[in-house]
Amino acid sequence: MRLFDASISDSVFLFLKKDIKTWATVQSANAKLCHACGITNFFCNDTEIQQIASELNGINYSVVCEDRAEYGDFQTNQSLTQQIATQLKREGINPQIVIEPTCGKGNFILSVLDTFENVERIYGIEIQKKYTWQAKFNVLDFFLNNPNKTKPEIQIVNSSIFEFDYQTIKKTIGEKELLIIGNPPWVTNSALGVMDSKNLPKKSNFKRQKGLDAMTGKGNFDIAEYITIDLLQNFGKCKGNMAFLVKNTVIKNIVHDLPKLKLLIAGLKKQNIDSKKEFDVSVDASLFSCQLNKTTELSCLESDFYTSEVKCNFGWLNGKFLSNLSCSCNDIDGVSPFEWRQGIKHDCSKVMEIEFDGECYSNKLGERFVIEEAFAFPLLKSSDLKKKHAEPTRKMVIVTQKYVGQNTTYIQKYPQLYEYLNRHIDLFRNRKSSIYKGKCDFSIFGVGDYSFKPYKIAISGLYKTFHFCLVKPQNNKPVMLDDTCYFIGFDTLEQAEYVWDLLNSVFVTDFLKSISFKDSKRMITKEVLMRIDLRRVAILKGEKKDMFGCINNQQEIQLSLF
Ligand SMILES: C[S@@+](CC[C@H](N)C(=O)[O-])C[C@H]1O[C@@H](n2cnc3c(N)ncnc32)[C@H](O)[C@@H]1O
Repeated sequence: MRLFDASISDSVFLFLKKDIKTWATVQSANAKLCHACGITNFFCNDTEIQQIASELNGINYSVVCEDRAEYGDFQTNQSLTQQIATQLKREGINPQIVIEPTCGKGNFILSVLDTFENVERIYGIEIQKKYTWQAKFNVLDFFLNNPNKTKPEIQIVNSSIFEFDYQTIKKTIGEKELLIIGNPPWVTNSALGVMDSKNLPKKSNFKRQKGLDAMTGKGNFDIAEYITIDLLQNFGKCKGNMAFLVKNTVIKNIVHDLPKLKLLIAGLKKQNIDSKKEFDVSVDASLFSCQLNKTTELSCLESDFYTSEVKCNFGWLNGKFLSNLSCSCNDIDGVSPFEWRQGIKHDCSKVMEIEFDGECYSNKLGERFVIEEAFAFPLLKSSDLKKKHAEPTRKMVIVTQKYVGQNTTYIQKYPQLYEYLNRHIDLFRNRKSSIYKGKCDFSIFGVGDYSFKPYKIAISGLYKTFHFCLVKPQNNKPVMLDDTCYFIGFDTLEQAEYVWDLLNSVFVTDFLKSISFKDSKRMITKEVLMRIDLRRVAILKGEKKDMFGCINNQQEIQLSLF
């Protein structure tokens, strides 16, 4: 049976059908329901009561079907919420006040009701109206079936957590034991941007990234990360605990930012769950838990949620952020003498990624065409970097600028390229990423003098491997990398081979293992690579002095170029 697009049990249906006759006003209806299940705000106004009466009499109100993706909507099954609540109880957690900030259908609230005996008040906040109804009906059903359980005062509020004022809750906590529990939305601000969604915090650049970094990867964050940090900042001084199901990247980012955030938390734990089994998604996620109102601890213990098997401890040690604190290979943790670069970003692969058959170019739209060949460069992607030497590639990319921001009107002088690009101008102008806003037509990013260096050492940011691939020119043209790859460029093969050998040494592999996070979307990032002090690697490898000098020369070459 369904009511307001929420399913209701027979007992809830019969209860409402019988009780509705006695509801004269919102106040009297809410008083009756509060008596039955503890929810103080079951109905917000008279209209809702009239609607429920009509629905119960068989007249259906249409309910707007909201978008699951926009709300990062992955409801936690009751078996998992129950296991989590039971585990918290076993650890001695005994809350009086509970907050479920994005409560969905309310499964965490039900497990809290079922597990903890001293709860006095529960606050559930949820943006989707149909879920607030579902949560209310579920709580009502719980108490109809468990009439002897103590009823805390429960408020289930239909609101965005970004608009919700925590002050009202804060006032009620005092010295009471708090538990913040739940599973905040699994969606990133950039995914929401693509959907033109407004489900974002007001501080959309809360990572405080500047310029291009803010617009590309670095300013990207999971809204669960924002919600978690916001709650820890608001309730950090309360006595109690937090237990949140979040993506592993969220936990890593929070631990990474702890020295800056100075959150008053300790006893940080990351317990890996099987998200395929629990949510039918392939995203690495865990139960993140911590104690509030403690001196900030900068590390997090990782274990398996189901078996409790300890995996490692990650976090900060002597000012360095490590994925495994017991690894002792951080001698080479420093600053790279070279600047690692990300490959070309164009967000228009249908037009920009092409192939050449000896006569004509072809694109992903199935078109065959001719352009001035000076603009077509061989292209390697992450999947082409699996071996230590890059193999010849048929893929090519059109490079429209020599450096970021170059005026592209010069392309008019090249009629074939100009005609080809112009034919697809709408695809360029419809590129979603904000980095292209206000930029010349056909603009690209991740391009500079470094892109045109003949020899490169490249690594994939996507694959879970630590080997570096040597890339040589093809058909007398420098090879470009796409934006899933990172690279350094060199003028001579000798220089490239020397650094390539250092990078593929056991010292670098072990070091990368100790600082990179396997479950990150990008295990290798520019930050990770910039931490490899190649001079130290050369010393550890016992390289001769004159060869180390070569690195110094390289640095001068590099620095003078940029
Ligand atoms: C991952 S689901 C988890 C739901 C529930 N906490 C559970 O564990 O089953 C995330 C929930 O957050 C809700 N949500 C998304 N954006 C929200 C917002 N801005 N404010 C409040 N709730 C939101 C979604 O509708 C969805 O119910």
